[in-house]
Amino acid sequence: MPSSKPAASDAPVETLSPGEARAEHERIGEVIAEADRLYYQDDAPTLTDADYDALRRRYEALEAAFPALKSADSLTERVGAAPSSKFGKVTRAVPMLSLSNAFSDEEVAEFVGRVRRFLGLDADAPVAMTAEPKIDGLSCSLRYENGRLAVAATRGDGTVGEDVTANIRTIGEVPQALKGAPDVLEVRGEVYLSHEDFRRINARQEEKGLPLFANPRNAAAGSLRQLDPEITRQRPLRFFAYTWGEIAPARPRDTQSGMVAWFKELGFPVNPLTVVCHSAEELLAHYRMIGERRATLGYDIDGVVYKVDDLALQARLGFVSRSPRWAIAHKFAAEKATTILDNIDIQVGRTGALTPVAKLRPVTVGGVVVSNATLHNEDYIKGIGTDGARFREHDIRIGDTVVVQRAGDVIPQVLDVVPEKRPADARPYSFPTSCPACGSPAVREEGEAVRRCTGGFACPAQAVERLRHVVSRRVLDIEGLGAERLPFFFEDEDLRIREPADIFTLAKRDAENLKKLKDKEGFGALSAKNLFEAIENSRTVALDRVIAALGIRHVGETTARVLARAYGTWTAFHDAAVKLADGDEEARHELDSLDQIGDAVIDALANFFREPRNRAMVERLVAELHVQEVEKPKADTPVAGKTVVFTGSLEKMTRDEAKAMAERLGAKVAGSVSKKTDYVVAGPGAGSKLDKARDLGVIVMTEDEWFELVK
Ligand code: IVH
Repeated sequence: MPSSKPAASDAPVETLSPGEARAEHERIGEVIAEADRLYYQDDAPTLTDADYDALRRRYEALEAAFPALKSADSLTERVGAAPSSKFGKVTRAVPMLSLSNAFSDEEVAEFVGRVRRFLGLDADAPVAMTAEPKIDGLSCSLRYENGRLAVAATRGDGTVGEDVTANIRTIGEVPQALKGAPDVLEVRGEVYLSHEDFRRINARQEEKGLPLFANPRNAAAGSLRQLDPEITRQRPLRFFAYTWGEIAPARPRDTQSGMVAWFKELGFPVNPLTVVCHSAEELLAHYRMIGERRATLGYDIDGVVYKVDDLALQARLGFVSRSPRWAIAHKFAAEKATTILDNIDIQVGRTGALTPVAKLRPVTVGGVVVSNATLHNEDYIKGIGTDGARFREHDIRIGDTVVVQRAGDVIPQVLDVVPEKRPADARPYSFPTSCPACGSPAVREEGEAVRRCTGGFACPAQAVERLRHVVSRRVLDIEGLGAERLPFFFEDEDLRIREPADIFTLAKRDAENLKKLKDKEGFGALSAKNLFEAIENSRTVALDRVIAALGIRHVGETTARVLARAYGTWTAFHDAAVKLADGDEEARHELDSLDQIGDAVIDALANFFREPRNRAMVERLVAELHVQEVEKPKADTPVAGKTVVFTGSLEKMTRDEAKAMAERLGAKVAGSVSKKTDYVVAGPGAGSKLDKARDLGVIVMTEDEWFELVK
């Protein structure tokens, strides 16, 4: 689990002792690595960009002040994230690197000057450079062996990427075989989606009630990183070739532009806006031309890339850390415009988050008419940042003139207000404290910027998404009632499924109904019968899954398991939750004493069970189920009641296995070492936790010794 409180310490790094610095460096490193994993591999970011950047800056500051912390596997040395384990790994001989950025004409001139100086050329000597659009997609390497596509991989951490060969084969634009290619040829480029295809994919997602992709880049990433290539096939991905990795026996051309022309001869799509320039002025003229055509290209670009054309000069220029000295990405500035804020609407997301949306007098921002823009959250309107500090002097009021920004192709946002233009009748905005979709209270948890609806299944904005979770494999696991069918049942007049209990009354209601499921579009007698059977088979269900099915915030599968193990039966859990909601201090205390259960979970449980509609919904569901009790952990093992910390890399079991095993044996598993720790099981590479255990005199053992102890 990522830490939900990623905040960096405030103490200036210079005031830390080396030990404190090491501990903080390790802690932040873990949070960043986890955030990277969620962002790059699960396409599901957990931290805001600002929080993430703050952590990164602190991490770098620690390394700058304590150079001993910087090792080869420091996060500052990595590009992107290590590949996800769901795909096979591909190791490249020539790593894929990133580009440094320029944001202004001056920075481009400096880049050209640097290149000249490095090569010992005169200040006005011409240097041939290519200029081409920077495609906003995902980079991929395609390896051809003896003219056949052998392996395709995502960038991953640069050296090791994910094997997406089967998915790349579904891209019509990518040649499967090449004529006249060298024995080994690794072509690299960008996989992307056109605007039109992006819109089509999102329309299909919407029809099926599936989450929408925020932008073409995310949609392309989600499509390429599909385990099922059949899904990728339905998403018309495209490709532009712009660079290369290994080539053997010999590279056939000696310029960047020559190589790209050769890719084209081989049958790869290459970007038609690639030109060769001879000065900073020419580069900038091409940049402006591309900028003007950006809105009509039909795909997302986020800048222009300049590369030294002569490959011998590229070789002389080489690299600085992770980017080539011979190339730079000249990024487009975010586009801005001012307009009037006519109103503020509240959108309720699928997780219940209330997002304020600015209703604007339509205005053109970078060639696109914008009439809606996000205002992020309640505090943002007031001018308060996620760190609680004021970042804008004025709040935003209805009637104000505001600055709107479209950065790249993401959702437009209100960036600022123009206080001089505030009319006398501008109205301050008061954020609703009840949900506009269902009327339930909308609450803000401590330390959270987002206000959320507590209506759960009673809220039409959230119900389908929640039901989807309930029927999923990891919760009630109802075959035949998958994500695609839920919107149908949610809407169907005769056989409505609006809350979990409705699933289990479906067969009975069907029998009583004149209009039967078997006669509905997409069903038949057999599929209806199979569905009813699958539902019947799911009626007997383990306590932890029932708890997870309630869809309480912060109570996912893992937490549900902890609660189930602690309370054992539905009645015991339910009594405790109801008491908690009614303000019983003892019930709160009892929950608080459970390992892994903290205030966030306790408050979420209390909020949930305080709402009468939720209580009624829960009762209706449980009345339909046979809830299986959960075996309490064993009390007669050598580690029962002990607190164990696992650290370092474990070699005989995964972290999850180690944890599950210890818990089964009645031990508590903690994340950090303290006086209360009984055992530390340390694998190779263990760091500060091991040091701390030694300092405190805690028993330290190897994995083998652990197995010996519990056998
Ligand atoms: S050249 C060693 N050319 O931008 C240089 N990259 O920010 C290799 N990108 O990882 C990259 N369009 O994913 C290059 N025309 C282009 C590009 C391009 C998009 C991406 C690529 C790279 C990232 C760096």
